[in-house]
Amino acid sequence: MSLSGKRILLIIGGGIAAYKCLDLIRRLRERGAKVRCVMTKGAQEFVTPLSIGALSADHVFTELFDRQDEHDVGHIRLSREADLVVVAPATADLMAKMANGHADDLASTVLMATNKPVLIAPAMNPAMWNHAATRRNRATLTSDGIHFVGPGRGEMAESGEAGEGRMAEPLEIVAAVGALLDTARKPLAGKTIIVTSGPTHEPIDPVRYIANRSSGKQGHAIAAALAKLGAAVRLISGPVTIADPAGVMVTRVETARQMLAAVEASLPADAGVFVAAVADWRTEGESGQKIKKEPGQGAPALQMVENPDILATIGHHAKRPKVVVGFAAETQNVVENARKKLDKKGADLIVANDVSHDSGINPSGVMGGDRNAVRIVTREGVEDWPELSKDETATRLAEMIAARLG
Ligand SMILES: Cc1cc2nc3c(=O)[nH]c(=O)nc-3n(C[C@H](O)[C@H](O)[C@H](O)COP(=O)(O)O)c2cc1C
Repeated sequence: MSLSGKRILLIIGGGIAAYKCLDLIRRLRERGAKVRCVMTKGAQEFVTPLSIGALSADHVFTELFDRQDEHDVGHIRLSREADLVVVAPATADLMAKMANGHADDLASTVLMATNKPVLIAPAMNPAMWNHAATRRNRATLTSDGIHFVGPGRGEMAESGEAGEGRMAEPLEIVAAVGALLDTARKPLAGKTIIVTSGPTHEPIDPVRYIANRSSGKQGHAIAAALAKLGAAVRLISGPVTIADPAGVMVTRVETARQMLAAVEASLPADAGVFVAAVADWRTEGESGQKIKKEPGQGAPALQMVENPDILATIGHHAKRPKVVVGFAAETQNVVENARKKLDKKGADLIVANDVSHDSGINPSGVMGGDRNAVRIVTREGVEDWPELSKDETATRLAEMIAARLG
């Protein structure tokens, strides 16, 4: 996430978590943000203006009645020359001042004078966080439009104390800052979309299974691209070794039958994008014990049975999403097979890709690789996309789904 050119006014309160601000400033700046800091008197008991100034590479503001600062910048300009005001740690005291409109030091005066969004990261002992006064202040601040990040649960600085009140970690605060400053178009806001990704594993016995080469890269990229356009994404993933995409709800499954159950449990949805390489067959009568290699007995014969067809089940489901997208990995007659799938599976759109070794995509091929060249097959026709990275393919497809959902 880039915060390039964004101006953050960071107000540091007098809590033990003030030390985390040193890292927060670094994290914001390495993403391109300009960070200017105001410290309360209390904050200066925990970290020094010297280290805050060194990390922010700017003057640190501490006094309301400072003739020089007031002449150079002034508390009003300070409050306005930012895209976002962040209060971290937001102490019980600062929250109380904000909720009641106090303006008796630089931090509280700037917070009263600002016309920019304000994000607070509360940090305090659980007893303070749950105190009736703080609860009232929380409600007031929420109804005043103040944004919160955290607090989380965990160990307190005071030994032996634990509970809710720990300040959000710097990277969580950075993510909240990014979300608040993200003014990008969100055509999928309010839409729920199911995405399946990765392979399935079909067990033979407790240690062996049948799998395929799907890495989950394309499905995960699509989930991320849909989330970026504002969709609430439920990603149902088979076993993969890649990281969860940011901002999506992930359910992990192993087998095709588990994947179908997870998809059905996620209905209703506005769209379903079925990218997972679901095994067509599983072994009948999975052995509960590891099959032993016995001398003279030869190899066991595996009897295969068909797995449920997730795309076709959802394509003809009573709760069918408005838009159903299927993926067809083919090694021959790619378009012809994709066309047949449209009706058979009840899909609106098939993303057909040639996963044969002579697909021309090297060095790793489509499955497991980072690039893809797909054909979009709909009832209206066929669209050939050039070879793109899986992220670019995902972005284009997300836009196409957004257009279909209107
Ligand atoms: C060691 C120590 C740790 C403190 N930690 C917190 C804290 O985590 N959260 C909090 O709300 N107050 C904490 N306080 C109390 C605040 O420092 C105190 O309320 C102060 O007036 C807050 O000033 P400010 O809100 O202007 O920064 C702590 C006090 C001490 C002495």
